[in-house]
Amino acid sequence: MNQNLVDKAVQVLESNWRDGYTIPCGHLYPFQWNWDAGFIAIGWAHVDIKKAKQEINSLLKGQWQNGFIPQIVFHTPSDTYYPGPSVHGAYTSPHYPRDIETSGITQPPVLGVTLERIAQMDFDADFLEKAVDGVFQFHRYLYEYRDPQGEGLVYICHNWEAGTDNTPVWDHIWETLDTPDIELARKDNTHVDASNRPSKREYQHYIHLLQLFKEWKYNDHLIAEKSPFLVQDPLFNSLLVASNNSLIRLGEKLGKKRMVAQLQAWNALTLAHFHQKLYDEEKKAYVYYDLRNDAVLSEVSSSSFAPLFAKIPSEKTAKEMIRHHLDGGQFSGKHHEYYLCASFDPTHENFDPKRYWRGPVWVNLNWILYHGLKAYGYTSLAARLKADTLHLIETYGFYEYFDPRKAAYTTLQKGYGGEDFSWTAALAIDLLSEH
Ligand code: DGY
Repeated sequence: MNQNLVDKAVQVLESNWRDGYTIPCGHLYPFQWNWDAGFIAIGWAHVDIKKAKQEINSLLKGQWQNGFIPQIVFHTPSDTYYPGPSVHGAYTSPHYPRDIETSGITQPPVLGVTLERIAQMDFDADFLEKAVDGVFQFHRYLYEYRDPQGEGLVYICHNWEAGTDNTPVWDHIWETLDTPDIELARKDNTHVDASNRPSKREYQHYIHLLQLFKEWKYNDHLIAEKSPFLVQDPLFNSLLVASNNSLIRLGEKLGKKRMVAQLQAWNALTLAHFHQKLYDEEKKAYVYYDLRNDAVLSEVSSSSFAPLFAKIPSEKTAKEMIRHHLDGGQFSGKHHEYYLCASFDPTHENFDPKRYWRGPVWVNLNWILYHGLKAYGYTSLAARLKADTLHLIETYGFYEYFDPRKAAYTTLQKGYGGEDFSWTAALAIDLLSEH
């Protein structure tokens, strides 16, 4: 184990620790984020299990009365981030929590997976009883309110819910929106290089969606009926299946029979439709489905491989997907010119190796893919993915994202976006702690 790198990673987490939770990164993200908290708690579990549990308990303080767990919990006010609580306007919902401010959209459901990781290190039944129940109620919300066609494939209604905010996958959806020229009070592009962040026009679409949801008081029926952005996302749904599986195993240990039966029924429904609806035979990858415009979004991104993590593809599908994209394929380059794994197809004209989710390598997606490859027995490719990830972090720092082009580093000295980024540090600890 590289103790020096672990020590540095722990310092990053310590410096981002606040009163009971961890901010993703100073200035840029000064509150608690949902899937960030899920990955961060996995890192904390190795070094301070109490903080791992506090991280989850703090996030669950933001849970709504209908089970919904928001993308952001605004624990303490900060003027370094836009959009804040008043732009989100989530307080217009009757389900809004009484004593804490949150946003009204969510993020990929990784928390079940996190709880199982925590339980493997410390089976604290008191903590788990409550946290498992909270996450189960969130999954109930997703299946009840976000699956209008009863396919077990839940939708996201905002690109921030995907986590992969500005992926080119939804470039054409933005063209269907009637977004006015909204004045933005953006702060993100003053903290880090603006050319590595989403564009002004993209941000106007993001804020326009929030304005619509606020007008509809975050009513799920209205959103399902009218939101111009309504997408079934392979990453979001893969994490849901993986988290369901984790909750099933935890529920069995905790004696929660009814919960386990419900989770099994949800997973069976999801698995009955996932491959059939989201696998693109031609692209040899899982893709997104645009429910609003009834259209397949056939661009391939790193989210396309996330079903490996939830053991969704057959061995045959896994093999063709890996060969075609990851092992001497489009995402690695024929001669492995790219570090694994670019967040968007490097052969596509809209690939941009520097701009957020339009190409750069992200450590959380690498962690998901690493475990997915291992689950299918691709040990040497998994080892390469892990080595690439740790090489980038060790050589260039605990950045938010990295250029995937190996050749770029003849001049480039660092990663992109936020520095000392918490999930980069947390997942490095997890990768380095493996036996
Ligand atoms: C941001 O502000 O860029 C975040 O990704 C939103 O969750």
